[in-house]
Amino acid sequence: MSKDGFILQAEGLYKSYRMGEAKVSVLKGVDLAVRKSEFVAIVGASGSGKSTLLHILGALDRPEKGIVSFEGRDLSRMGERELNKFRNKMVGFVFQFYHLLDELSVLENVFLPAMASKSVFGWLGSRRWARDRARALLSELGLSERANHKPYQLSGGERQRVAIGRALMNEPRILLADEPTGNLDSATGNDILKVFERLNKAGQTIVMVTHDERIAQKAGRIVTLADGKIKREGAEA
Ligand SMILES: Nc1ncnc2c1ncn2[C@@H]1O[C@H](COP(=O)(O)OP(=O)(O)O)[C@@H](O)[C@H]1O
Ligand SMILES: [Mg+2]
Repeated sequence: MSKDGFILQAEGLYKSYRMGEAKVSVLKGVDLAVRKSEFVAIVGASGSGKSTLLHILGALDRPEKGIVSFEGRDLSRMGERELNKFRNKMVGFVFQFYHLLDELSVLENVFLPAMASKSVFGWLGSRRWARDRARALLSELGLSERANHKPYQLSGGERQRVAIGRALMNEPRILLADEPTGNLDSATGNDILKVFERLNKAGQTIVMVTHDERIAQKAGRIVTLADGKIKREGAEA
């Protein structure tokens, strides 16, 4: 953790995309700081740069300018190996369209991040532990009966819960979610939010992006991304 109690800090982030001749500036000086065990929602219109920002916060992309620091460490100073480790161990990602692997079972999808972080021999030594942890996560998420199914056999809400299990597999310090309810009906979306609320109550730090203000109300703090900047810091703690 950084000395001022923030787990994740972004300062002066800039990002633009080149569209042929034109340059589209998406982030124009974004500042954001997230405390341990906070649940922050980032809201903003479609196209305002929410996904771009979230990808940069999780080191899936790099800013053109500005600094992201995690527990006081500047991500731009990390090499590719270290960044891979950071993405795999420290961050859990949840996406709108789940991004599960249909060839693998639900259980295998959940323990995949544990496999990815190990050598072959390391994996042989820890696979029993990994399977047990994945089973425990599926049970917490109400999916024990589904462990041996394939993702395409599940409903949208169930798939998203599998994706949450996968994101939690390596006990990430922070969970980043990009429109996690965006592909779900409102009742199912509420169930997913309840999962996030429960995780947050247990201490999980969460940053969730959504274009839906109603969904954002479930978070502890709401920040708005507009015109390439964070507009206002929500008042509620
Ligand atoms: N890889 C890319 N190449 C070009 N333009 C992009 C790319 N990714 C995003 N954009 C553009 O950047 C803007 C912000 O996109 P995005 O971060 O996905 O917004 P949001 O998630 O808020 O809808 C949009 O205008 C989008 O078209
Ligand atoms: Mg988006």
